[in-house]
Amino acid sequence: MSTLRVAIAGATGYTGEELIRLLLNHPHVRLTYLAASAKWDRPVPVSQVYPRFARKLDVSLEALDPARLIESCDAAFLALPHGAAMELAPKLLQAGKRIIDLSGDFRLGNPSLYPRWYQFTHAHPELLTSKRVVYGLTEYHRDQIKAADLVANPGCYATSILLAALPLFQQKLVEDGRLLVDAKSGLSGAGRKAETSLLFAETAENLRPYKVNSHQHMPEVLQEIQRVAGATPKMGFTPQVIPIVRGLMSNLYVKTSAGADRIAAAYVARYPAAQAPFIRIRPGSLPQLRDVIETNYCDIGFVHDPDLGYATIGSALDNLTKGAAGQAIQNLNVMYGFPETAGLL
Ligand SMILES: NC(=O)c1ccc[n+]([C@@H]2O[C@H](COP(=O)([O-])OP(=O)(O)OC[C@H]3O[C@@H](n4cnc5c(N)ncnc54)[C@H](OP(=O)(O)O)[C@@H]3O)[C@@H](O)[C@H]2O)c1
Repeated sequence: MSTLRVAIAGATGYTGEELIRLLLNHPHVRLTYLAASAKWDRPVPVSQVYPRFARKLDVSLEALDPARLIESCDAAFLALPHGAAMELAPKLLQAGKRIIDLSGDFRLGNPSLYPRWYQFTHAHPELLTSKRVVYGLTEYHRDQIKAADLVANPGCYATSILLAALPLFQQKLVEDGRLLVDAKSGLSGAGRKAETSLLFAETAENLRPYKVNSHQHMPEVLQEIQRVAGATPKMGFTPQVIPIVRGLMSNLYVKTSAGADRIAAAYVARYPAAQAPFIRIRPGSLPQLRDVIETNYCDIGFVHDPDLGYATIGSALDNLTKGAAGQAIQNLNVMYGFPETAGLL
């Protein structure tokens, strides 16, 4: 099998760093280009930026130049802030490059949703409805991902919520059409940027809810529940920041009279180990973060109280791995016919 030349735009960010960490162990991939914003006005050896990668990777980090990016790679990971990939991706597609975009720029099929949820008007709405662009929840869209030119990697919260919710909606086990989610994320979920609300003194010994019922991952969750399960639930969502670096836990509350056995059967049938190597099901208890940190696993567990008539489903993953870079590499593996777990175990 020949080696694939791979570039990362946004290599100085948290997900870019995680991509480098994982791709260094990928047997079929060679990193050929690392780029960040214009403030990197001269190339800097990656070992100066990340001493942890010294002697492992001999590539310089430089300001993003689309022409250099195109000539240096076969496929590109775009780990850029929302709005930046939308401008860059069409140039890469025109040059025949395949893309995995970690931002929200291509996740929503309906362009009219972007002003409300992302505060911009989409510059290339024609791509959002193109068959070349596929929503990259690997466990649900593997066949389309194989043929995609641009994979829109799902959001971190969205990944944890969808992997837990879709089997229940597919089996019609949710009885009142409501999906209530309480979720907590570590600080790396906000990216490597200077912001008062992310300072140590603001976040340590604290738990801070934000964007309650208005987080930008809500429309992609509702879009996929509709696409995959044909259901149109109402959703309540309370994301919270907790003082850890990485890790994300979503607890879902759904009204159901289905017993524990039926709920377990829905998950086991949807995620057999051979077809969903990164989903681990734990009936009877909720997962914990320490089991998934720096892994590409999403652990899903549940507790059902028949008297209450509600099931509590916990879905835990590492926001930088299964919630971003790991899932992005899983998608690259599917696109290029590599073993789905390559570089990820
Ligand atoms: N963090 C997570 O847990 C997570 C999970 C899933 C998805 N995502 C999404 O993944 C994307 C990257 O997230 P992140 O957390 O890695 O962000 P980040 O830590 O803020 O990093 C952003 C990267 O983009 C670069 N950049 C910014 N503007 C640029 C421009 N105009 N041209 C070229 N490079 C530019 C930055 O370079 P400089 O060093 O030069 O500023 C940096 O390398 C975002 O869209 C985010 O929403 C993040």
